[in-house]
Amino acid sequence: MSIVEYRAGLEGVPATQSAISFVDGRQGLLEYRGIRIEELAAHSTFLETAYLLIWGELPNQKELESFEREIRSHRRIKYRIRDMMKCFPESGHPMDALQASAAALGLFYSRRDLHNPAYVRAAVVRLLAKIPTMVAAFQLMRKGNDPVQPRDDLGYAANFLYMLSEREPSPLAARIFDVCLTLHAEHTINASTFSAMVTASTFTDPYAVIASAVGTLAGPLHGGANEEVLDMLEEIGSVENVHPYLERALDQKSRIMGFGHRVYKVKDPRATILQQLVEQLFQEFGHDSYYDVAMALERAVEEKLAHKGIYPNVDYYSGLVYRKLGIPKDLFTPIFAIARVAGWLAHWREQIYENRIFRPTQIYTGLHECPYVPITERQMNGAQFSTAEYSS
Ligand code: CMC
Repeated sequence: MSIVEYRAGLEGVPATQSAISFVDGRQGLLEYRGIRIEELAAHSTFLETAYLLIWGELPNQKELESFEREIRSHRRIKYRIRDMMKCFPESGHPMDALQASAAALGLFYSRRDLHNPAYVRAAVVRLLAKIPTMVAAFQLMRKGNDPVQPRDDLGYAANFLYMLSEREPSPLAARIFDVCLTLHAEHTINASTFSAMVTASTFTDPYAVIASAVGTLAGPLHGGANEEVLDMLEEIGSVENVHPYLERALDQKSRIMGFGHRVYKVKDPRATILQQLVEQLFQEFGHDSYYDVAMALERAVEEKLAHKGIYPNVDYYSGLVYRKLGIPKDLFTPIFAIARVAGWLAHWREQIYENRIFRPTQIYTGLHECPYVPITERQMNGAQFSTAEYSS
């Protein structure tokens, strides 16, 4: 095989073949298994969409009911997982708590035959069922409360919102949250999905696959951006401050959070749908002045950066939806993870059936044939730190 050109961040380099989702970044088109995201958002539920992504086809009524039943019956987490999570520092980020707890599931459900469909099904069901319970449990336990048990009479989205607040959400809130999960469920080979695929390609257990993907999603250039969008809107505070803020940020060459995408060069179709959801929520729960700031910033960024193809991405409006639902900011990325588990599992399944372990190459830029200098003769090098920086 000939050596191909090096592309930083593997930009534009095909790293796999996949039949799961498709993005046309110039048209602003996203499809899951060939179905447009707008159709799924309007007509499907998150679990129906997860089934589509993972098993390749939309379920019929019977298949969906049985999938939902299985998920409901696996929502509870073992008391040892709960007790382990109780020991996590309450100041820790919920994404770190989620990554550790997802990995801990592997201690209880050990790796078996990855090619046994029953094992695959059980792992899919457990992960989809337990991840929301773990996110909600950490949220309550870090405030010193006991976790709320899942309620079997509630659907996937409604049950999660209930476990967070112990209050049953309104049908509109539950439906909108469910659509948010659908919108975040899958997005081709982004950083966390790639990380899931690399991990899957070693034939390790699916809990390690999901834990590695959660760790990757946590970064501010990926899933962590939704939390930072709200920080930014809070900092801007009012519509009058939008232009000065943007000028300053651009002068300092800072990124405007929630804008820009490696693939989309027009407005992300998910951002358009999320914006409609925000407006629907306002009708039931009242207006949020941050939305005015967000729209003013969108217009200002468009004036300045449209020529670079910088438009709102999925993270731009999702935070406003979650804020209206009363969800704390640092749970925004764990919620992204709850949804993306569906896509990660779809890629896990695809990877293990057509596996070749990932082992790319590199272009070495270091030295050769260096002498070994005895420790007594070595000069001081640049790597000196003050211990105060990492004292605890
Ligand atoms: N604000 C200001 N300028 C930007 C932004 C932004 N958010 N994004 C890209 N640019 C500029 C960048 O400065 C560069 O300009 P120039 O060519 O003059 O140097 C040009 O656009 C291309 O940028 P890039 O870094 O080559 O683009 P990329 O494809 O590597 O980065 C990105 C994609 C998402 C990391 C980036 O747009 C970004 O950092 N956005 C802010 C963080 C964010 O919202 N992340 C969520 C991404 S979508 C959901 C997800 O993946 O989780």
